[in-house]
Amino acid sequence: MAIKTVGVLGCGLMGAGIAQVSAAAGFKTYSLEVNEEVLKKGLGRIEKFLTGGIEKGKVTAEQKATVLGNLTGTTKYADLKDCDLIIEAIVENVEIKKQAYAQLEAVIGPHCLIASNTSSLCITELAAATKRPDKVGGLHFFNPVPLMKLVEVVRALSTSQETFDALYGFAKAIGKEPIAAPDRGGFIVNRLLVPYLLDAIRCHEEGLGTVEDIDNGMKLGCGYPMGPFTLLDFVGLDTTYYIANIMFDEFRESRFAPPPLLKRMVLAGHLGKKSGKGFYDYSK
Ligand code: CAA
Ligand code: NAD
Repeated sequence: MAIKTVGVLGCGLMGAGIAQVSAAAGFKTYSLEVNEEVLKKGLGRIEKFLTGGIEKGKVTAEQKATVLGNLTGTTKYADLKDCDLIIEAIVENVEIKKQAYAQLEAVIGPHCLIASNTSSLCITELAAATKRPDKVGGLHFFNPVPLMKLVEVVRALSTSQETFDALYGFAKAIGKEPIAAPDRGGFIVNRLLVPYLLDAIRCHEEGLGTVEDIDNGMKLGCGYPMGPFTLLDFVGLDTTYYIANIMFDEFRESRFAPPPLLKRMVLAGHLGKKSGKGFYDYSK
């Protein structure tokens, strides 16, 4: 199955990174957003990363030109008609994802594969909502996409071996290290990471330590690159809240239940780095 043209739904934190690495690897890549304003912001994030990479001596001007040359931003599904693979990276909500797949299937060809970057949703349910359940799987990237090597390749009950192989091959072609992961809420990494992040919030709520002390504890004591609160702000508190609810619903275990403080921070619009305020203040 030859993949030449890739469409990425959503140009947020993850979609922008996925579109960037796809274009950098030579795939003609379309990045679709809900409106021009959000699209411009997402494409701006890619430009900023590449410019920062040049300043750090990690990216060449030619590499930047390759990415920008292979990348087309759009707000129209019709522009995705020639894609061989769609990677969906929109909000962590099953109904919104299903609606997007219906719009997508009205324009894409019958051969086109669909992969969701969902953190926690059931890939089999997403696949069953399409007319091509054998051609749907999961490609779970990690944030920040251009720097994190891992991709979990997820097989739904309906995913064909040919589709799984094509998704695995695509992950390798863009320079990532793929691992096969089962279609269980949170796959492998989030099954371990999400309870840890939620526990950090619970510990803080119980008065175990300040945000800074807990972060420093895990950074300096365990060698983690970021403490749990810095990572929560980085992932997005809204996304973490959606993931926790989905995983709690899947496993019915209290370790996946979102702590009350997380819910209230999301309701208050404190979404982390992307909104300028989360456990830390980014307004300056
Ligand atoms: N272009 C190219 N390279 C760049 C770059 C750029 N714009 N910016 C940074 N880099 C390179 C640096 O040069 C450096 O390379 P070397 O190691 O070769 O020197 C490397 O990237 C690290 O960059 P920095 O030194 O500037 O930054 P750092 O050391 O603070 O690391 C980080 C940043 C990689 C994000 C690190 O903090 C980290 O690994 N954090 C944890 C991230 C994590 O856990 N992600 C998973 C989130 S969970 C998830 O994604 C799943 C989900 O479903 C929620
Ligand atoms: P985000 O909020 O940064 O971006 C989501 C983007 O999707 C927004 O820009 C929004 O405008 C767009 N969008 C919403 N509905 C759309 C539609 N119908 N069509 C096109 N675009 C639409 O979120 P994110 O952090 O990038 O997360 C996206 C997906 O990736 C989620 O499924 C999430 O669980 C998953 N994920 C997130 C992380 C992370 O660290 N944040 C890591 C791995 C996977």
